[in-house]
Amino acid sequence: MAAHGLMRLESWAGTNRLPAVSSRVSALARYPVTRASAMLALFVAGVDVSRSLLGDDLEPFIDLVELRGDEARATVAILPIGRRVIICDRADASAEPELVCWPDDSSFHLLHAIAYEPGRATWLDLGCGSSVAAISSPGTAARIVASDLNPRALQYTARAARFAGMSHLETLHGDLATVPADLITCNAPIPGERGPLWMAAAAGFVARVFARAAAALRPGGMVVVHAALAPLLELQLAGELVIVAYTPIGEPREFGVAWWRPDAPARQIRARRGLAPARPHLDASDREAALAGTLAPL
Ligand SMILES: C[S@@+](CC[C@H](N)C(=O)[O-])C[C@H]1O[C@@H](n2cnc3c(N)ncnc32)[C@H](O)[C@@H]1O
Repeated sequence: MAAHGLMRLESWAGTNRLPAVSSRVSALARYPVTRASAMLALFVAGVDVSRSLLGDDLEPFIDLVELRGDEARATVAILPIGRRVIICDRADASAEPELVCWPDDSSFHLLHAIAYEPGRATWLDLGCGSSVAAISSPGTAARIVASDLNPRALQYTARAARFAGMSHLETLHGDLATVPADLITCNAPIPGERGPLWMAAAAGFVARVFARAAAALRPGGMVVVHAALAPLLELQLAGELVIVAYTPIGEPREFGVAWWRPDAPARQIRARRGLAPARPHLDASDREAALAGTLAPL
């Protein structure tokens, strides 16, 4: 694969966890650039790199650089995730409202909370951003619709999907724009917070996600939402609702993942799971554990 230069993230950065890489970007930018590290220096650390070091690896991404004499400058960040890449704004991009952020831990809480089920026809990801979840899990559904209010996020998603050969992923622009789907997911911005579009939303956003999802969900489908805990706890929903709360290490705020199956027999379960270095993100097995009663109740 021509992107193999981007696949050596762990040996270069000391980790393949993108949230951890993002906090090391300025140190990584000071590393000497070699032939082996050139693509990572260019697209992850945002360093201007000589074309002679990049060689043919650059060709698939030539539209994502500015060429200045012998040097290439990345116009975006390209981040390896497994054997694929996602595209977002450079780590040093200014904090304008339409910033497409680097994935943070919340992105991975949602990604890991989505259980694979064979035969899903359509997966709708609301507020897809750089589409970490969809690009990482192309087999989740026969059709993937990545939806966002931020056109730049959709442009990056479409480019990364093209590069990954994911012709079954389409983008959809709008304010919680929906299509009928069997799986609907969202990693919600934080209601009441101030900041760019990816981070902050109006009060009521999480309830609105569930209302939109309820209207778009096909019979037997599931909704999976990562959000601040308080609005999840205010939800009044029919069917099966499982909420697992967590507190990020070193943070006072609480978050959670809600798994909702409106057509399942009614039960409402609220539990909590502590995070640990070996299991830093909630995952689909936490839903199972909450249903089995083996997690601490909330
Ligand atoms: C916390 S970010 C999550 C991004 C990505 N899903 C992830 O997990 O890394 C929230 C996303 O919701 C999008 N968003 C905010 N308000 C929206 C709205 N009203 N309709 C659709 N998307 C919205 C933002 O542009 C941003 O991409």
